[in-house]
Amino acid sequence: MFRTIEWTENGVRMIDQTRLPADEVYRTCRDYGEVAEAIRSMVIRGAPAIGVAAAMGVALGVKHSSARTVHELRAEFEIIAETVSKTRPTAVNLFWAVKRMREVFESSLRADADASEAEKIARAKARLVEEAQRILAEDIAVNEAIGRHGAPLLKDSGTILTHCNAGALATGGYGTALGVVRAAVEAGKKIHVFADETRPFLQGARLTAWELARDGIPVTLITDSMAGHFMKQGQVEAVIVGADRIASNGDVANKIGTYTLAVLARENGIPFYVAAPLSTLDMSIRSGDEIPIEERSAAEVTHLAGVPIAPEDVQVRHPAFDVTPHRYVTAIITERGIAREPYTESLKALFSTAASPASPTPRV
Ligand code: MRU
Repeated sequence: MFRTIEWTENGVRMIDQTRLPADEVYRTCRDYGEVAEAIRSMVIRGAPAIGVAAAMGVALGVKHSSARTVHELRAEFEIIAETVSKTRPTAVNLFWAVKRMREVFESSLRADADASEAEKIARAKARLVEEAQRILAEDIAVNEAIGRHGAPLLKDSGTILTHCNAGALATGGYGTALGVVRAAVEAGKKIHVFADETRPFLQGARLTAWELARDGIPVTLITDSMAGHFMKQGQVEAVIVGADRIASNGDVANKIGTYTLAVLARENGIPFYVAAPLSTLDMSIRSGDEIPIEERSAAEVTHLAGVPIAPEDVQVRHPAFDVTPHRYVTAIITERGIAREPYTESLKALFSTAASPASPTPRV
């Protein structure tokens, strides 16, 4: 099995997702600037994976700091955190991870209040490196828990439609939406996946089809515009997608095209599930209207693998995400259980449950 991202002695090693499926190559980012660039250019992508990369980027930056005083180190921490935070705006996991790293940094300094400056710095560096690795390990456990909660929602056999890539490549491992699929398959269910190609970055064609095929899970690639046709024909049992940010009212930001699928699913009486860790939940915002939507380059729309597919100078829009209103969401599958309408209450209840990430929890 490939590793999406890992901490190594030489830096942060990640599979280069811009090169898949043609080449399985790995890149080692040797400083935090390279990690930030890898996030921005989508060498690594997918909300939870971006969160892990951000944490490792912060750890790498602080580890390499030559600061001699806590004051200097704190100033450097803020520069590193800001650089990492400015890479992509929509996936809240990135900001969640940087916040968690800042908390560990500050609590480490407090715990060593009586130590020398050199010791405080050395221990803070070690704790940040440990924390980044813990975030990775936790993410995999969380995805397995999401799978355990989500798998019973699926019938013993059927076809699932998914969009973008919410799999092992988008997370520390196992996946969220594809984690549910994996858990169902592990439970003996006969699941077939329709993977939307996911224009324009083609995460479905390049990544979802690749990772499912490697696992031997039956997958059929379709273009985004075919989804409604197959739903209407009764060929889709459920839609399962991941999320980049979920507002406290249950509105879901995910890859552009997700909203269209949710409306089509409602029209055709098909359940529409969102699988996401609680680190994707943004309890500070009341609705999806407050979620910043990343606009990416026109070139990603006008070119395919470097080849122009549109007239030069054509006007282009490229929002990378859309927001699905909560009324279209049948359920949100998290590591602590399943939330349903009214989301304002069910998500709050899950969020405030002080359970360990992988522990079984009742349905809310
Ligand atoms: O632009 P991307 O590839 O980072 O977008 C990824 C998605 O929209 C995923 O569906 C989402 O991050 C969930 S990944 C478990």
